[in-house]
Amino acid sequence: MSSKRFEIPDNVAIIMDGNGRWATMRGLPRIEGHRAGEVAVRETVLAASDLGIKALTLYAFSTENWKRPAEEVRFLLNFNRELLDRRVEEFHRNNVRIRFIGRRSRLPRSLVRKMEEVTEYTKHNTGMKLNVAFNYGGRAELVDAVRVIARMASEGRIKPQAINERVIRSHLYAPDVAEYDLLIRTAGEQRISNFLLWEIAYTELYFTPVLWPDFRREHLLEAIKEYNRRTRKFGGLVEEK
Ligand code: IPE
Ligand code: IPE
Ligand code: MG
Repeated sequence: MSSKRFEIPDNVAIIMDGNGRWATMRGLPRIEGHRAGEVAVRETVLAASDLGIKALTLYAFSTENWKRPAEEVRFLLNFNRELLDRRVEEFHRNNVRIRFIGRRSRLPRSLVRKMEEVTEYTKHNTGMKLNVAFNYGGRAELVDAVRVIARMASEGRIKPQAINERVIRSHLYAPDVAEYDLLIRTAGEQRISNFLLWEIAYTELYFTPVLWPDFRREHLLEAIKEYNRRTRKFGGLVEEK
């Protein structure tokens, strides 16, 4: 029997998927699924913070989600701004530090203003880091990093041969959370959908059929239990027990 103690992963990322299916199954319009997902966001953030997870990154809107019908996109932009209004105070009381990763371009000014306000309001909190991935794409993140580094090189501030993993990492959207221990995706799809490409190189992947609006503390715990059954090797060897 292994004597390994129960370990809470430091950095956890979640692809919150299945809102549309949750609504469709009930004969409701898709947006009702997004609305119902708010409960899962609240529970998951509070549970993760209670458990002592250091950073939680939630995929809320991808660079590809603009392909959806204009009405759904508009709903998501407004809804997420309102969700921030409703939930920030409680997260703040729980010492959660909120930030946003992704591109600001194309986002309505009122949403960008709200994102900046929330970041500023919670910036001194010392508890869990909550990164909300909004208008986020893993490829876009790498393109943005490469652009900055290329500019530095063209201005002679860095030599091409000095560009290494550390330099790339330091130009990601959240360089302090550049590696994840556990990635959870709800709703059964087993793909990454352009989330955190660099950051999940050695992340444990966990897929659950539970639809995001039904996701609760117990499902997060189940994912962490499964994480504890994994053996992480990072390309090396692990001593057999
Ligand atoms: C996830 O649920 C929320 C977003 C992508 C914004 P979906 O809206 O993708 O739900 P399904 O996959 O259609 O069920
Ligand atoms: C990923 O889910 C994006 C978010 C959860 C925000 P999607 O529903 O957009 O992904 P695909 O289209 O199934 O790959
Ligand atoms: Mg989906």
